[in-house]
Amino acid sequence: MQPILEAKNLLKNFPLNMGILERKKAQIHAVRSVSLKVNKGETLGIVGESGCGKSTLARMLVGLTEPTNGDILIQNNKLDKKSQKSGLPRVIQYVFQDPISSLNPRKTIRQVMNVPLTHLQKLSEKDREKQIKQLFKAVNLQEEFLERYPHEFSGGQAQRIGIARALAANPRILVLDEPVSALDVSVQAQVLNLLSSLKKDFGLTYVFISHDLAVVETVSDRVAVMYFGEIVEIGPAQEIFIKPKHPYTKLLAESAPKIGTKLQLNEKSNKDLPDPTHPPKGCAFFARCNHSTDKCLDAHPELQSDENSVFVACHNPLG
Ligand SMILES: Nc1ncnc2c1ncn2[C@@H]1O[C@H](COP(=O)(O)OP(=O)(O)O)[C@@H](O)[C@H]1O
Ligand SMILES: [Mg+2]
Repeated sequence: MQPILEAKNLLKNFPLNMGILERKKAQIHAVRSVSLKVNKGETLGIVGESGCGKSTLARMLVGLTEPTNGDILIQNNKLDKKSQKSGLPRVIQYVFQDPISSLNPRKTIRQVMNVPLTHLQKLSEKDREKQIKQLFKAVNLQEEFLERYPHEFSGGQAQRIGIARALAANPRILVLDEPVSALDVSVQAQVLNLLSSLKKDFGLTYVFISHDLAVVETVSDRVAVMYFGEIVEIGPAQEIFIKPKHPYTKLLAESAPKIGTKLQLNEKSNKDLPDPTHPPKGCAFFARCNHSTDKCLDAHPELQSDENSVFVACHNPLG
């Protein structure tokens, strides 16, 4: 099957401001060579702790951050400066974690909605009106909200607006970056249900990013686990957390709070992450791992497939 979205060796370094007297410029290695494929109609979940590079990866996928290296292919076409004109970026849209601050505070919601309809879809005023009505209906928002300003909405309403705005570009793929993390649990469920029905109605493909394992597990067909700028395990959602192959995936699965059980923390689990300006030569999880050997310190583990379409980057994968 031809993937609808593909990332090939995507890498992002951010320059670190060291002051003018520093001769050597340090770099933050935010994303360290990520390759992945997303199939049409699936939800690929991306999970990992704060700072592991999820948002940087997401922003590269939608063209908001320029990769230091690597390629992005959408429907087999390269996403780059040239493709801006062809309308390719319209196909993939980003939904932000914090919907209110992602909206211009001085614009009414109608003005916000009109931007993609005018510039990306190039619709006439009459068609824009029609589309806005349809989209607001699809995300269960009242039309009277259109004349209001972003700060007048609750978190759940604002996220519905954020989703409607992304849909106004008529995309095929949505990259949802922690779309429910800022919301109350009861509102989270409503927004997740809405996303699930929109996916069917609009024939969408999702990349769903969250640090919350329970959320990712519920919504995803496949899950990619990120650690320190890399994918360390990727595979079907049911397999990954029931039978984790990477010790970090196991740690994530075990440290997720469950009702009725005592919180258990692995004693090595609280150790700091490696220095992002000096990524280690070997495995980045080494210091926190209970299964490490000398090889892990010296050799970088590459993603390798097992027989169950799970890929794991570990020298000593769990059985
Ligand atoms: N614009 C930026 N400039 C410098 N460093 C950044 C920038 N954006 C992210 N980073 C750094 O890159 C790393 C990954 O960040 P991010 O992608 O936001 O992670 P996540 O979304 O998983 O929390 C972090 O160390 C962060 O401080
Ligand atoms: Mg983030």
